Amino acid sequence: MRDASETDFDLVQFGATGFAGGLTADYLAEHAPPELRWAIAGRGRARLEAVARRVGELAPDRPEPQVIEIQLDDDDAVAALVGRARLVLTTVGPYAIHGEPLVAACARAGTDYVDITGEPQFVDDMYLRYHEDAERTGARLVHCAGFDSVPHDLGAMLCAQQFSGDEPLKITGAVRANAEFSGGTFQSAIGGFGALRASAKLASQRRTVEAGRSSSNRRVHVRAGAPYKDPATGKWLAPLPTIDPQIVVRSAAALPFYGPDFTYDHRMAAKRLSTVVGLGAGVGVLLVATAIPPLRTQLAKIKSSGTGPDAERRARSWFNVRMTGESASHRAVVEVRGGDPGYDETAKMVAETSLSLLLDDNPDVSGQVTTAVACGGALLGRLRAAGIAFEVLEGARTPASTHT
Ligand SMILES: NC(=O)c1ccc[n+]([C@@H]2O[C@H](COP(=O)([O-])OP(=O)(O)OC[C@H]3O[C@@H](n4cnc5c(N)ncnc54)[C@H](OP(=O)(O)O)[C@@H]3O)[C@@H](O)[C@H]2O)c1
Repeated sequence: MRDASETDFDLVQFGATGFAGGLTADYLAEHAPPELRWAIAGRGRARLEAVARRVGELAPDRPEPQVIEIQLDDDDAVAALVGRARLVLTTVGPYAIHGEPLVAACARAGTDYVDITGEPQFVDDMYLRYHEDAERTGARLVHCAGFDSVPHDLGAMLCAQQFSGDEPLKITGAVRANAEFSGGTFQSAIGGFGALRASAKLASQRRTVEAGRSSSNRRVHVRAGAPYKDPATGKWLAPLPTIDPQIVVRSAAALPFYGPDFTYDHRMAAKRLSTVVGLGAGVGVLLVATAIPPLRTQLAKIKSSGTGPDAERRARSWFNVRMTGESASHRAVVEVRGGDPGYDETAKMVAETSLSLLLDDNPDVSGQVTTAVACGGALLGRLRAAGIAFEVLEGARTPASTHT
């Protein structure tokens, strides 16, 4: 972590004029310590000043964030600003299009970096290009600090902590949610669906590089199989091809308490088989549509950037992630529950991840790291305090024997 005395800002936020970024700025204004040296940066001064005024009104007792106008394609200006900061938080997306300059600058400067991407191709590309730079400078590059993938990463971590750590362990994650998404999320999803082939290639390159770097004989696997009806809950569980399983097994590969042989199976849960079939068909249609350029252009017009569910809709939204862990000798069930997953809770998660990296006594790690590896224990405590439930429903170990 860079020293406060060699920087002008603790946190520089990019994307505060957008939907998720605006909610994140509001959360920081209301929850960050008043002495946090905070700036908001972006390409439109007037829009940034409006955000600074709004968050100033939300928290009149703290100074407004400083406003910095900057173009992300101006490498020198970006490097200079990142060099003045201890941490960069960015919600500028789609990340595959706009994300690289900030990752590159942070990795080179030794500045910590946090985002809310859910785009696997971007995360793998950034690993291949900047992980080694960040390891050398000491920067922690923490992607996926929103609903992708904090509840799953920390939920699986808490579940693994209920086991002895010396047996093979399988965790099945089952996700339910009722929510709407923003224009920015929609645009990023279209980009992701349209880049599946490139994404698979980057994932394969990454696996080769990681295998060459690892000297561990512990094994981790992602499993995906056909839908089935869970006898314990009566719900249908179908494979959910998000970035979450990749994040969970990266944490498992780095943290020995997940055991010698760890498997993660990521699923959506639904009451009816027809919901699972409908969703599968919807994904199939999107896959075809995003592969045909004119259809893709039409699709992109459905929901434009900057828009998202209003406060009343977000107040009715919720998520529930159930992690069921099984080893030869033990079974444990953990539930993670919260409100609007994509925006209200994502704002909390990304802001608290950033504050944890800045303020908490976390493990000494660097390079591209997951939330569980960078700040898992401290972040779990912060999110519980912020109202997100992480509950061990079954098979809790006594606190004294729980891994940290
Ligand atoms: N993982 C999760 O759980 C999760 C949840 C929510 C969102 N997301 C992701 O977060 C991203 C943002 O979502 P959103 O709904 O907030 O999108 P949004 O409302 O469209 O906001 C995008 C932000 O990026 C900025 N931006 C875009 N292009 C830029 C450029 N060339 N230079 C500088 N700034 C630029 C915009 O600034 P201007 O005002 O200047 O246009 C705006 O502040 C998306 O990729 C979305 O998928 C992830």
